[in-house]
Amino acid sequence: MACNIAVFGTGYLGATHAACMAELGHQVVGVDVDAAKVEKLSRGEAPFFEPGLDDLLKSNLDAGRLRFTSSYEEAAEFADAHFIGVATPQKRGEFGADLSFVDTVVCTLAPMLRRPAVILGKSTVPVGTAARLSAMVAELAPSDSIIEVAWNPEFLREGFAVQDTLTPDRIVLGVHAQSAGRAEALTREIYAKAIADGVPLVVTDRETAELVKTAANAFLATKISFINAMAELCEAAGADVSELADAIGYDARIGRRFLNAGIGFGGGCLPKDIRAFMARAGELGANQALTFLREVDSINMRRRTKMMETVRDIVGGSLIGTRVAVLGAAFKPDSDDIRDSPALNIAGQIQLQGASVSVYDPKAIENSRRLFPTLDYARDINDACDNADVTLVLTEWDDFKNLLPEDLDSVVRQRRIIDGRNCLDPAVWRSAGWIYRGVGRK
Ligand code: UGA
Repeated sequence: MACNIAVFGTGYLGATHAACMAELGHQVVGVDVDAAKVEKLSRGEAPFFEPGLDDLLKSNLDAGRLRFTSSYEEAAEFADAHFIGVATPQKRGEFGADLSFVDTVVCTLAPMLRRPAVILGKSTVPVGTAARLSAMVAELAPSDSIIEVAWNPEFLREGFAVQDTLTPDRIVLGVHAQSAGRAEALTREIYAKAIADGVPLVVTDRETAELVKTAANAFLATKISFINAMAELCEAAGADVSELADAIGYDARIGRRFLNAGIGFGGGCLPKDIRAFMARAGELGANQALTFLREVDSINMRRRTKMMETVRDIVGGSLIGTRVAVLGAAFKPDSDDIRDSPALNIAGQIQLQGASVSVYDPKAIENSRRLFPTLDYARDINDACDNADVTLVLTEWDDFKNLLPEDLDSVVRQRRIIDGRNCLDPAVWRSAGWIYRGVGRK
């Protein structure tokens, strides 16, 4: 049965969620205070790059199942389910999450709710947030309205957001023990297709649901830092981390996915989520439980410094006056997201050490230019590599993975390549006369 749904926040999470809910046949209104975003989305254009999303927006706008607005009143009057998909960034100068966007949505919406409704949080929040918001809603909503607050964390990956939302590997719902059961019934209606297709639905309390999300991201971050720590050992011992990852990955308990050594994790989620998790554990008096995440964080940040050292080393000790080509600026391929991007961070540091840096990325140039206006941005791979003393592959876009030495032989000044994502074949580059360096590789 079609449900009436509102989605607050139209960033990577909210816009995708709104479009996918409409694709499932629901009537959806996406709400954002940013009028420019609303206007763009209403034309069927996502304000960021996400494969397949523009098509999904257009077809659902045309079908009349999806619309975007800045009006909270409109959403409050219309929807049975209110999804919160706004950002929860790291607080300035602190590890904790900034919940002001989430709080603002709830404070603005609650007084307008004059019909029974369920607020379903999707944003990644510290454990205890749903209970706190529930108390806020009880105070702010009209006294006769029945409003439940439940948590339904999101596990989508950028670059695969549409697929992950339409066919998730699990759906988690945290409900209040004394809830009237409306939250679960509505969630079952909303995700009826996925549930019928066999996707597990885990119904639990709100605290567990909130923790599931942060625990999942903490585990993924730990897995990446583990393999990057192994890369450090491989470098010290003259071993190869990619072969090591393949070999340990055959053990189904370990698994090969998310075991790619490189310049580490970035983006708007993993780095800030592990920090917010540590901060929350401290508030709960359980900080010891998560001290290992400090190490996860520092192994990760060390990859960026190590990459700088490798670049300096390969050009003979000093970057002053060298030309460095940087291929990749996004924090991962198939995304234009540059939040806490290791690639862009490294590009910036290299420039500060006196090199002239030319950056190319298939989708993230515009965003990068806004954040680092002083870097040079190239039109394409050849433009970036023109007369380069060293070429760095820092985001594993297909265009870079498929590069061959002969594509660049006559473009660069020095045939030196550093593979920050271990995505190239060292033998191919070395046999063509290039100096190749990877991460944790001989
Ligand atoms: C991450 C989680 O994977 C999602 O499940 C979660 O929903 C999302 O955060 C979120 O909390 O919203 P995402 O930030 O899109 O998704 O990116 P990932 O695919 O997790 O990659 C994160 C970073 O780790 C990237 O910089 C990537 O290059 C790096 N990475 C990933 C590695 O260095 N090695 C790997 O083996 C895998």
